[in-house]
Amino acid sequence: MPVIRFVREQRDVECYPGENLREVALREGIELYGLKGRLGNCGGCGQCITCFVEVVEGGGDNALTEQTSVELMKLKRRPQTWRLACQALVQKSVMVLTRPQVGLADREGELGRARSLPLPEGPTAWPEPPAAAEGEEPQESETPAKAAGTPSTTSGEGGVLPADGR
Ligand code: FES
Repeated sequence: MPVIRFVREQRDVECYPGENLREVALREGIELYGLKGRLGNCGGCGQCITCFVEVVEGGGDNALTEQTSVELMKLKRRPQTWRLACQALVQKSVMVLTRPQVGLADREGELGRARSLPLPEGPTAWPEPPAAAEGEEPQESETPAKAAGTPSTTSGEGGVLPADGR
């Protein structure tokens, strides 16, 4: 299911259904924050209102989970297409513009380019954990992301890149 197309960064990033948009962006090195958020943000608690993204297109109405009560309160005076990345869980492929409060040179051109490429389906389910051999204890040193096989990213040219950047 989900691929997040970051329009400003010209990157497609795969994630698993239900992953937090902010956490996926941070994991992939996508800059979510303007200056204020870089200087100090709430770490994803929905309090600093600095992790704006604009949902440009994708997945119908339910590409992201519904606005939380925090967003309903904090985004009252913002465009209806804006979300707080830390409050949104990704359910289907979606196209977002990070830092929508910051201008984007040739916005319409960039949006047109992003919309012209089909959104890939991406992973449809979390991977099964590897079966432990009989009598073998599961390895605790392995991080959950590694154990789950962190999804790969794709470049703007459509090539698939492994998540570790090699
Ligand atoms: S990180 Fe503070 S509101 Fe999202």
